[in-house]
Amino acid sequence: MRHSPFTAITALAGAATAANTTSLSDLCTVANVQAALPANGTLLGIDLIPSGSTASIVYNASSSATSRSASSTTFTYCNVTITYTHTGKGDSVEVKYAFPSPDAFENRFYVAGGGGFSLSSDSTGGIQYGAVGGATSAGYDALNGVSYDEVVLYGNGTINWDATMMFGYQALGEMTIIGKPLTRAFYGLDTDAKVYTYYEGCSDGGREGMSQVQRWGQEYDGVIVGAPAFRFAQQQVTHVLSSMVEVTLDYYPPPCEMTKIVNATIAACDPLDGLTDGVISRTDLCKLNFNLSSIIGESYYCAAENSTSLGFGFSKRQAQGSTTSSQPEQNGTVTAEGVAVAQAIYDGLHNSAGERAYLSWQIGSELNDAETTYNTDTGAWELDIPSTGGEYVTKFIQLLNIDNLDNLDNVTYDTLVEWMNIGFVRYYDSLQTTLPDLTPFQSSGGKMLHYHGESDPSIPSASSVHYWQSVRSIMYPNSTSDESLEALQNWYQFYLVPGAAHCGVNSLQPDGPYPEHNMDIMIDWVENGVKPTGLNATTQAGTYKSETQLLCQWPTRPFWASNSSTDFECVNDTASIDSWTYTFPAFKVPVY
Ligand SMILES: *[C@@H]1O[C@H](CO)[C@@H](O)[C@H](O)[C@H]1NC(C)=O
Ligand SMILES: *[C@@H]1O[C@H](CO)[C@@H](O)[C@H](O)[C@H]1NC(C)=O
Ligand SMILES: *[C@@H]1O[C@H](CO)[C@@H](O)[C@H](O)[C@H]1NC(C)=O
Ligand SMILES: *[C@@H]1O[C@H](CO)[C@@H](O)[C@H](O)[C@H]1NC(C)=O
Ligand SMILES: *[C@@H]1O[C@H](CO)[C@@H](O)[C@H](O)[C@H]1NC(C)=O
Ligand SMILES: *[C@@H]1O[C@H](CO)[C@@H](O)[C@H](O)[C@H]1NC(C)=O
Ligand SMILES: *[C@@H]1O[C@H](CO)[C@@H](O)[C@H](O)[C@H]1NC(C)=O
Ligand SMILES: *[C@@H]1O[C@H](CO)[C@@H](O)[C@H](O)[C@H]1NC(C)=O
Ligand SMILES: *[C@@H]1O[C@H](CO)[C@@H](O)[C@H](O)[C@H]1NC(C)=O
Ligand SMILES: *[C@@H]1O[C@H](CO)[C@@H](O)[C@H](O)[C@H]1NC(C)=O
Ligand SMILES: *[C@@H]1O[C@H](CO)[C@@H](O)[C@H](O)[C@H]1NC(C)=O
Ligand SMILES: *[C@@H]1O[C@H](CO)[C@@H](O)[C@H](O)[C@H]1NC(C)=O
Repeated sequence: MRHSPFTAITALAGAATAANTTSLSDLCTVANVQAALPANGTLLGIDLIPSGSTASIVYNASSSATSRSASSTTFTYCNVTITYTHTGKGDSVEVKYAFPSPDAFENRFYVAGGGGFSLSSDSTGGIQYGAVGGATSAGYDALNGVSYDEVVLYGNGTINWDATMMFGYQALGEMTIIGKPLTRAFYGLDTDAKVYTYYEGCSDGGREGMSQVQRWGQEYDGVIVGAPAFRFAQQQVTHVLSSMVEVTLDYYPPPCEMTKIVNATIAACDPLDGLTDGVISRTDLCKLNFNLSSIIGESYYCAAENSTSLGFGFSKRQAQGSTTSSQPEQNGTVTAEGVAVAQAIYDGLHNSAGERAYLSWQIGSELNDAETTYNTDTGAWELDIPSTGGEYVTKFIQLLNIDNLDNLDNVTYDTLVEWMNIGFVRYYDSLQTTLPDLTPFQSSGGKMLHYHGESDPSIPSASSVHYWQSVRSIMYPNSTSDESLEALQNWYQFYLVPGAAHCGVNSLQPDGPYPEHNMDIMIDWVENGVKPTGLNATTQAGTYKSETQLLCQWPTRPFWASNSSTDFECVNDTASIDSWTYTFPAFKVPVY
């Protein structure tokens, strides 16, 4: 399973400099990098600028992500930066690559996703897999921490389309099409030597992965996409929904009341999947069988606290500007108003004609966006519009360079639909990222693992289901149900992660499983043809801690018999699947 690059080298006439004894320091020179740059004219629209190259060895770097081998916590690599311009444009894009030493290189290239409005600025994520990795400035200094929402407007009313296209899909695609020939030439491989190319990311990193599959599909062999922040227009405005519900119903729930509603839902729905383990593994059964109003009257209590809110880490400023808020002791009983707020949020956005505009979080997901703030002067709980949604509306829809909406005065559900529609049309080609025809990826042999925490409180898991359904129906319009399912599962597999939150474990369902070996599974699929039949996940805590749960591949759903963790099946359940299936008649254009 290990691929030595040097079998290729020995076959390469004239590659006298390369030998099995080549060390990283032999290769890690500006001259070697300059000689390895693709010549102008070979990559359409991209001109490499040799004088902008640097190369230096980084010794004993420490990695945040050496999940693969606990023993190798430090590594040494060649840190290369190169510069290119778009032909005739005069702009400048800096890209950095991390090259492992020749004896560690396994003919792989690896692209990591970012999160929020940021691309990844770390090029070293692939080292642990014997892969060259990269990261890009995207033309707006992203390597130095500039995030796209900071540059999306030149000023009020003027969109920075270059940054939008680069963030949308172009920057990562270009980094990959430059990086692959650069990798071959850097190590002295044959020009058509196979370099297995992988992508891995979650949240906006998931959207970025989908952007690569949709736009540069033929470049990637294995793509791992978690909880993609795609269908961007609908997704971002949905972050305003919870506030809109509170304004419409004129009820601003104490946070403790909402948490109680979620906790009581988890307790009630946990056993519906057959196993009482603190995890709702079947939110569909919860949606079909549980009535939130049964919680009315239950008491809740939360001690006073000074909490530091990290938000969703959705934008750099939010993460840095994490605010400390104080909450008084909260002691009360769940009200009909509180349940009405929760129910309306889980129902999702509809226009005033009752037509559905978007889907929502699964019942039992945390209601983070509904969090109110405490006014110490009046002793009242008040509206707190999440900046994830608010900033999107001010900057991307209203085109005003301000960081959040102040209020929702004169805003209705119809306004939210209108905002979605404006963003849908305006960014259809750049940020929406839901193109459902993946033929170039599929026909060149690409494989995709797509997963989503079932109780994600930020990006609804049904959003991923809807995309899977769109790809299936667009790519296999004439196939029978069984045929299209089998054909799709040969290259695109989708998994819901029971109980999990947004790209991680859920503090309210901490005993759930989480997949931790996705790259190993993907490498085995791509390089050895081992098609997964389930997705390995490990239970994180509780009675069944550290057990492997082989997650069910969508559209099958987990079910346990006899309340035993080993008595487990992946079942077909039409009513469940129907509960995950949506149409969006509030829009005239199909929403994929
Ligand atoms: C190159 O080195 C590897 C490991 O160091 C060794 O297994 C392999 O046999 C060597 N190949 C040649 C052609 O010398
Ligand atoms: C490629 O084009 C760029 C921009 O025109 C130029 O700066 C660079 O020198 C060219 N590279 C070579 C190798 O001529
Ligand atoms: C890297 O770590 C090794 C082992 O700890 C040590 O021997 C070596 O001196 C270090 N190299 C540098 C450049 O720090
Ligand atoms: C990699 O090289 C660039 C350009 O010289 C430099 O700015 C950066 O700090 C280097 N990275 C590391 C980790 O040394
Ligand atoms: C909800 O459940 C969590 C985790 O079990 C617990 O820490 C928290 O106190 C509960 N909150 C309420 C309001 O019930
Ligand atoms: C919260 O912070 C305030 C001001 O620093 C302090 O007076 C109060 O005791 C803290 N409350 C808790 C529950 O820690
Ligand atoms: C909450 O309030 C009720 C009624 O006032 C009281 O009986 C109970 O002790 C309070 N609970 C806590 C934990 O303070
Ligand atoms: C942009 O518009 C906002 C909202 O109207 C305003 O507060 C701000 O001053 C404007 N910025 C500039 C540079 O004009
Ligand atoms: C809301 O609408 C009313 C009536 O049309 C108008 O007077 C008011 O200025 C509006 N408020 C805002 C914030 O737009
Ligand atoms: C599906 O069937 C229609 C009508 O027979 C045909 O025109 C179309 O090309 C088929 N599509 C595919 C993808 O096979
Ligand atoms: C996945 O789980 C199966 C079954 O427990 C096990 O045989 C396999 O080694 C696991 N694969 C990885 C990559 O962890
Ligand atoms: C579920 O349905 C699929 C496709 O119809 C079929 O291949 C599979 O065997 C079924 N699984 C079970 C557990 O019945």
